[in-house]
Amino acid sequence: MAARRGGMASGAGAAAAHIASSMVLSLLLVGVGVSRAQLQVGFYSDYCPDAEDTVTAAVQDAAGNDPTILPALLRLQFHDCFVKGCDASVLIRSASNDAEVDNGKNQGLRGQNVVDAAKAQLEDQCPGVVSCADIIALAARDAVAMTGGPSFDVPTGRRDGLTSNIRDADVLPDAGDSISVLRSRFAASGLDDRDLVLLTAAHTVGTTACFFVKDRLYSYPLPSGGRGPDPSIPASFLAELEDRCPPGNFNTRLALDRGSESDFDDSILRNIRSGLAVIASDAALANSNATRALVDAYLGPWAGSFEQDFAAAMVKMGTIGAITGDDAGEVRDVCSAFNSN
Ligand code: HEM
Repeated sequence: MAARRGGMASGAGAAAAHIASSMVLSLLLVGVGVSRAQLQVGFYSDYCPDAEDTVTAAVQDAAGNDPTILPALLRLQFHDCFVKGCDASVLIRSASNDAEVDNGKNQGLRGQNVVDAAKAQLEDQCPGVVSCADIIALAARDAVAMTGGPSFDVPTGRRDGLTSNIRDADVLPDAGDSISVLRSRFAASGLDDRDLVLLTAAHTVGTTACFFVKDRLYSYPLPSGGRGPDPSIPASFLAELEDRCPPGNFNTRLALDRGSESDFDDSILRNIRSGLAVIASDAALANSNATRALVDAYLGPWAGSFEQDFAAAMVKMGTIGAITGDDAGEVRDVCSAFNSN
């Protein structure tokens, strides 16, 4: 699914006004010598000064009604950035169900409505200025802080992408991926072992459906050749998981970070180290010397730097394939659809 370019479906007047305001903005930016070709902290400070506060207020508002939206917003940025870069392609909705979001790997993705709400307010304040890709990044940042994690600056200036295809999302990691597959999927996005460990630790908040745990409980490939429960799961924890996720009932939701699903902290790393990871991809971090050593380090000598390093990894993830400058991508009018001008 690609953006239609060159048409006038949204009305010549609106299009002309949009172009005129973009030209004014471009001239102003040239005038003050601001480069629009790279991400920078405070990108909107001159032309939409309340942009970040508006996003924060929208996230706060949504979390007031439903605190589980915070982990969902964090996940949303991961699913945006890993597929063709941080370009809001995950927000596109398609009548023919062939956009990225329709891929099974995006099952259960939530938070799009929060981005939509922030965008609607921002279009009132400063039309055509703030990209949906930046709103996703800012909302994820706010979600981390609001669950008790670090507060950090996020560079902005991303533009929104012009394509969103269902098959593009095939590259997203799976809960059942081995450590070597996880590493190669992260490497393909320019992320290393440390990023893999730190970003996986985002599972310190939020929940998973039993759907993503069932294979680990009932059909994990065993070294002997057959299938059964993942032998790395301690017996008492296996019994607990089987009790929560009995065969055939896979909609129940479990904390990803057993005992600490609402707080951003390092207990997910402790759980991974103790064999109490819920999904197999988290448990897999204990399956290579390099990633296991990183988990240990963040619980030992580097304990004090976990939150700061997590924030740095988020900022790094937020740069994957970001579109910048005036010549590529667009700033969508609404986040769920390409502009039609
Ligand atoms: C390493 C590869 C990863 C895999 C295989 C993976 C897989 C999953 C799965 C299966 C779920 C449960 C989805 C559901 O049932 O709704 C989930 C949830 C979640 N993921 Fe990941 N994930 C990975 C990396 C990440 C990264 C890098 C982030 C963010 C930086 C992230 C953030 C989250 C959050 C916050 C949730 C909870 C969502 C909620 O409660 O609504 N994940 N992930």
